Amino acid sequence: STFKDIFNEPGFIKALEGDVHIVSDLPESLQSAPRARKHFTSWSGASYYEDVKELWKDHKVVHVPKSDSRLANNGLPIDIQRLRCRCLYQALRFSDPIEDLGKKLVERLKSRGKFIALHLRYEKDMLAFTGCTYGLSESEADELRIMREKTSHWKLKDINSTEQRSGGNCPLTPHEVGMFLRAMGYTKSTWIYIAAGEIYGGDKYISKLRSYFPNLVSKEVLATKEELEKFKNHASQVAALDYIISVESDVFIPSHSGNMARAVEGHRRFLGHRKTLTPDRRGLVELFGLLEKGELTEGPKLSSLVTKMHKYRGKAPQGRDMRPCLGARAEHDLGQRNPFMKTHSRSASA
Ligand SMILES: *[C@@H]1O[C@H](CO)[C@@H](O)[C@H](O)[C@H]1NC(C)=O
Repeated sequence: STFKDIFNEPGFIKALEGDVHIVSDLPESLQSAPRARKHFTSWSGASYYEDVKELWKDHKVVHVPKSDSRLANNGLPIDIQRLRCRCLYQALRFSDPIEDLGKKLVERLKSRGKFIALHLRYEKDMLAFTGCTYGLSESEADELRIMREKTSHWKLKDINSTEQRSGGNCPLTPHEVGMFLRAMGYTKSTWIYIAAGEIYGGDKYISKLRSYFPNLVSKEVLATKEELEKFKNHASQVAALDYIISVESDVFIPSHSGNMARAVEGHRRFLGHRKTLTPDRRGLVELFGLLEKGELTEGPKLSSLVTKMHKYRGKAPQGRDMRPCLGARAEHDLGQRNPFMKTHSRSASA
């Protein structure tokens, strides 16, 4: 998909016109002008971009082949922070066909009652990438290993699944999500929307979760075949539907962290501190280990342990730890340009 297949491009350009001049094509006069090609370094602050500006001295066009280099979180001037919010949460809207269907699906869900959006990242690529094979058959584990070995841009090849799991680095399995949600007090009548691509193993693994929560729905259930037809074979556009539904859910629960989970969580905070409940995967795996050994059973005891473990999770709003940005240089920048952040950082670390 191109940018305008996913996003409302004219709306984006218009929304930012007071801040940034955006064109969808290079003007003729610049098409053969000297070009620099530059991969920006992720997590850079304002001073890095001051340096990058030097490129304009020798080149008329700077080509940035990848646009996913993150800006530093902290220590940025407040006007830049504001622009970032405006970009992400106001200027960036999905294209009309995606927004329209997204809204319809949200309405259909809301007509049934409150609902959880579960970002169930139990997908083949994620399991192959993280090397998490817990509970899988030998042939499934092999299939995932082969996929990992064949994917050249994944650097880590030799992964110990047991260590990954105990380190809290594996997406929860559908069964584990079921145990977690039940222990958190959600009942059988809870509506759960599965925001995900194809779940690995399909019904074989989903059925466990469904036995805990029969009101489990996906976009394939909510939407008609005709409605989904034009998004078929466009994974990013389908993911955009999941994004819309996740932002509008009563509770958002990511079974694994990642770009989508973080973007949704941030968007929900922006819209008024809507609840996001991030499972403590490392802690939960320890408890699930006790269940396996028979040292604990599902019930009130597990429930109280799990609830306690998540007492301070999903309780919005949260302060942000600003200490990392209080290095000498950042301190100087903050003092000079950004009195707001300085005050804020004190109260956040207090
Ligand atoms: C994986 O790590 C566990 C725990 O450290 C260890 O017991 C096991 O032998 C390791 N497995 C392999 C195949 O190295």
